[in-house]
Amino acid sequence: MSVATQPEPDRLVYSAEELLASDSYREPLIANEIRCHGGFMDDGFYRSPRTLHRGPAIDAWKGKLAEQGHDLIELSRELTPPQYPSVAQARLLLQNGVREPIVRTLTIISILEGFGAMIRDVRVPKLEDLFIDGGSGRTPGIEGTALAHLRGGLFEAHARDESGYREEGGHKQMWEAARDEALENPKIPGDVLMRIMGQRQKREKTGPVFPEIDPKLERMLAFMSQVLVIEVFAEGAFEWGIELLSDPEVSANPKVAGDMIRHIQQDEKPHVEYLRTALSEARARTIRTVDGKEIPGKVVVDEFLHRILHSMSRERRRDQRADLRENLIEAMKVAGNPKALLEEFDSLDEDWNPTADTGFVSTRAANQAA
Ligand SMILES: [Fe+2]
Ligand SMILES: [Fe+2]
Repeated sequence: MSVATQPEPDRLVYSAEELLASDSYREPLIANEIRCHGGFMDDGFYRSPRTLHRGPAIDAWKGKLAEQGHDLIELSRELTPPQYPSVAQARLLLQNGVREPIVRTLTIISILEGFGAMIRDVRVPKLEDLFIDGGSGRTPGIEGTALAHLRGGLFEAHARDESGYREEGGHKQMWEAARDEALENPKIPGDVLMRIMGQRQKREKTGPVFPEIDPKLERMLAFMSQVLVIEVFAEGAFEWGIELLSDPEVSANPKVAGDMIRHIQQDEKPHVEYLRTALSEARARTIRTVDGKEIPGKVVVDEFLHRILHSMSRERRRDQRADLRENLIEAMKVAGNPKALLEEFDSLDEDWNPTADTGFVSTRAANQAA
């Protein structure tokens, strides 16, 4: 199939090549001498990579879902933990010449962005055999849905956006560029990656939550739910990064660094949108179990979203705090009066508690301890 050059708003079926196609840009995006994805159109505005057809496709799949009378998943912003350190705390550190913790925070974000490429390794089972019509007759098959395009372009586009593709940088390189522009090519702590890996190993693996469904389907839906939550929570990191790195008091290149994060923020929209569309499609259907019975997709998807929202809204803040405070005292030694600085830093701490209600119902929590 050749790649159509013009988007067609109502089309529901696309080739992988089309979902990976970008607009023809007037000018590429160059960050810190690295050619990045996306680029600038004739109107001067930045356009995200691989959205020529992916954008209209997601809108069309969403439209179909609505037409069939199904809800689109909404995650409440109230569940997003605030970034630690806050903008005020980060500004205070930078104004006092304490740069290491902020360089570390920005480097962690860039590494985690790069990990996003893992989505291309998610194994997609034969979905057409696992989803059945719920009986209403309104939701037949998976043809012409986001679910049917996960393997054929959507996961690959997402992976390329996060970690770059071939000679083109992605979000990993764009965050590094924002950091290096704003903080003038700072020295990067050597242990950032090691520490992230250490934390990951500590997390326990749990067994299947739904042993009655195809294990590949369980892993895929659980992983997609997790990535969706990460993507939604990341919005807090973008706002934080834009505010901090656009501040001429602490940023050496506020315009370039701030815009770079705005471009990344714009690129994340299709990630959130295709994931929530595909998960909503799964939620609107019925899943065939391995023993020939049925379970509503809603029960499965809501369980994962509840569990992930519940634990991540707590863990993320704890992890960010632990990461920062591990060598905060050490890093503050470069300041004139480290003790006074720490007190002032701590006085800016924001109190935050996640709401108990995630908006999704868990039905397996009682017999399968979370
Ligand atoms: Fe990203
Ligand atoms: Fe993303």
